[in-house]
Amino acid sequence: MTVYSNLAEWRAARSAADFPGRRVGFVPTMGALHAGHHALLERARAECDFVVLSIFVNPTQFNDAGDLAHYPRTLAADLALAGDLVDAVITPGEKELYPDGYNYRVTENALSRELEGVHRPGHFDGVLTVVLKLLNLVQPHRSYFGEKDWQQLQLIRGLAGTFFLPGEIIACPTVRDPDGLALSSRNRRLSADARVQATLFPWIMENSADAPAAAGALQAAGFAVDYVADRDGVRLGAVYLEGVRLIDNVRL
Ligand code: PAF
Repeated sequence: MTVYSNLAEWRAARSAADFPGRRVGFVPTMGALHAGHHALLERARAECDFVVLSIFVNPTQFNDAGDLAHYPRTLAADLALAGDLVDAVITPGEKELYPDGYNYRVTENALSRELEGVHRPGHFDGVLTVVLKLLNLVQPHRSYFGEKDWQQLQLIRGLAGTFFLPGEIIACPTVRDPDGLALSSRNRRLSADARVQATLFPWIMENSADAPAAAGALQAAGFAVDYVADRDGVRLGAVYLEGVRLIDNVRL
């Protein structure tokens, strides 16, 4: 595994990695890797010849400065978890990835304004912009994204289609702890008591008759509810527990 913090060096290595028939797989992340990321990397390893992981805590997708400040940064542990699954890791600096200071950006005007977008203005502009940059830098044949971020996944698919980006966007199932909580880098910020309570989030989402009933039950269980909505056969929700924001979705 080679770690590239310098984008010029990475781009030179990427050109050298190109030869016919060699499939490049890509897993973009913000680090704080867990078993969910591990599953994405395993799939990329199984399906591709050269696997690239990016680790970049993208400031433009945080609308809450506190959330950005508290986002876990665990590079050494991340590299250990990625281990033999990856050939290259890119860890660009903010100035290098945003040489224009974020003057140029990608905006989607429909889905990105709903659900998460209502509560996190500008979030998806940041996500789509950084994903476009990363896809251009890595030029993957296949990129792997988790279904936990359902809205993000739809928007990235839209980005790839709209801008005729080469390469496939591959959706991978949400990985859950045995008690049902979807894995997230933010889970580690929950106290032991809140972690137990968090189990109710997917359970209520799954077992409520409709979205308003789920929202009511979550509130009664002590969650601060941002939204619960049923859409395209999926129930999507976002809640706060101890100030930690959790999102999830279940198929109806
Ligand atoms: O899902 C994430 O971790 C991030 O939104 C992504 C896709 C790496 C962009 O920063």
